[in-house]
Amino acid sequence: MMGLFSSLMSSFLLLAILGFGLVLIVSGNAEVDALYAWKMNLSDPNSVLQSWDATLVNPCTWFNVTCNSDNSVTHIDLGNANLSGQLVPQLGQLSNLQNLEAYGNNLNGTIPDEFGNLTNLVSLELFFNRLSGPIPGTLGKLQKLRELRLNNNNLSGNIPMSLTNVGSLQVLDFSNNHLTGDIPNNGSFSVLTPLSFHNNPGLKPPKYQTSPLPPAPSSSAASSSVLSVSSGSLLLGLCSCLFSLHYLLVLLPYQD
Ligand SMILES: *[C@@H]1O[C@H](CO)[C@@H](O)[C@H](O)[C@H]1NC(C)=O
Ligand SMILES: *[C@@H]1O[C@H](CO)[C@@H](O)[C@H](O)[C@H]1NC(C)=O
Ligand SMILES: *[C@@H]1O[C@H](CO)[C@@H](O)[C@H](O)[C@H]1NC(C)=O
Ligand SMILES: *[C@@H]1O[C@H](CO)[C@@H](O)[C@H](O)[C@H]1NC(C)=O
Ligand SMILES: *[C@@H]1O[C@H](CO)[C@@H](O)[C@H](O)[C@H]1NC(C)=O
Ligand SMILES: *[C@@H]1O[C@H](CO)[C@@H](O)[C@H](O)[C@H]1NC(C)=O
Ligand SMILES: *[C@@H]1O[C@H](CO)[C@@H](O)[C@H](O)[C@H]1NC(C)=O
Repeated sequence: MMGLFSSLMSSFLLLAILGFGLVLIVSGNAEVDALYAWKMNLSDPNSVLQSWDATLVNPCTWFNVTCNSDNSVTHIDLGNANLSGQLVPQLGQLSNLQNLEAYGNNLNGTIPDEFGNLTNLVSLELFFNRLSGPIPGTLGKLQKLRELRLNNNNLSGNIPMSLTNVGSLQVLDFSNNHLTGDIPNNGSFSVLTPLSFHNNPGLKPPKYQTSPLPPAPSSSAASSSVLSVSSGSLLLGLCSCLFSLHYLLVLLPYQD
């Protein structure tokens, strides 16, 4: 009798423990999983990620990870941390991330398309790494992005036109890469200087529209032809003056 009771008791206990474990697994933290997936991809000779413990309920106590009051990650500061490995697509799940600083490491591989899902990102600092492949066009979805520094990597391909739609952009540095094609000069790119694109041997300076010539005076409008000729030459003079100015300010810096 006692034996039956205790075996019933222990199976009940076993079930309870199993159930509790299941609840723990189900309620696991997605941001812990995303950051831990990145840690698993990295080699970390200085052990800066030692506190990145996947069994904690959230990543808010992890070294150089900052959260908001809802325990959701807003900042990752891993500049000059001697990390090597790759950026992982799971990082795109950090929906409240505002700053991702991972400059000055040895990261290689590509920038994941999934970074376009980081719609709260304000600053993306990945300069001085060994990243290759294209700049994802999905970054054009980051409508709060103010600073995008990808300089001193091995990025190739064209500059995505979608980035011209990021109205919040204030600082952009793509210098010292292997980008090719045309440099956009409209939208958010209209305020950028050649310094942002320096030392990408395959990049062409922006194409500027040449001013259309004034219409030739027609013989039927003889009385107004003098006026239109003189205003035409005035326009031409203005154009060439503007062009020289433009050459000095914009085109000249490209001719190293
Ligand atoms: C690191 O991440 C990249 C990109 O997701 C993946 O291709 C690679 O297999 C990963 N490597 C390791 C060791 O996890
Ligand atoms: C950690 O964050 C602090 C403050 O933001 C910074 O000074 C330090 O360099 C960071 N450490 C690493 C390894 O990035
Ligand atoms: C970075 O790690 C490499 C080994 O991967 C080591 O040789 C080097 O001394 C480290 N540098 C710093 C500044 O810790
Ligand atoms: C990244 O660097 C490691 C170590 O040098 C190398 O084995 C790996 O092939 C590189 N991966 C890419 C995608 O460049
Ligand atoms: C994140 O971005 C990728 C590629 O841009 C896309 O395929 C995926 O559906 C997105 N995921 C979420 C959860 O929005
Ligand atoms: C840069 O990327 C290209 C591919 O785009 C690759 O062939 C080359 O080896 C890379 N260079 C370095 C220094 O990683
Ligand atoms: C800039 O011009 C390209 C075409 O050259 C266009 O696709 C893009 O939408 C334009 N951007 C803005 C902000 O108007």
